[in-house]
Amino acid sequence: MRILVINGPNLKLLGIREPAIYGRETLDDILAKARAFAEERGVQMDVFQSDVEGELVAAIGAAVGKYDGIVINPAAYTHTSVALRDALSGCGIPAVEVHLSNVHKRESFRHVSLTAAACVAQVMGFGGYGYILAITGLLNLLERK
Ligand code: DQA
Repeated sequence: MRILVINGPNLKLLGIREPAIYGRETLDDILAKARAFAEERGVQMDVFQSDVEGELVAAIGAAVGKYDGIVINPAAYTHTSVALRDALSGCGIPAVEVHLSNVHKRESFRHVSLTAAACVAQVMGFGGYGYILAITGLLNLLERK
């Protein structure tokens, strides 16, 4: 089983970025824990991060035939990107959307996700642990197939 964990813009700033909202863990810290969790379950986990919308779209397209599942935090593009939504809908790979923060407790522009409807599920508000929850859900789904 192979999964791709995709992170969008500004997530490489985790650790210093608005710690009251996002906590003090870096993206590397979060991904190391997620990878250990995945590997314990015999799952190969690859990661991709970009601040560039088109690169995220290209990574989803390139995942076809290579990955069984996607975990994605589209970050700010969640709220704006028809291109990412179309990529997720079009790739045919089940995806789970993750947000560190509970976006519904924040500004109203964060309350809409263009990408969520193209995903099988959404996890939010658990900080970095949300990636482990997303992987857990994805594995449960893939093992039921
Ligand atoms: C985020 C929430 C988004 O609204 C924001 O733009 C981010 C991070 C989160 O993980 O909580 O960059 O996706």
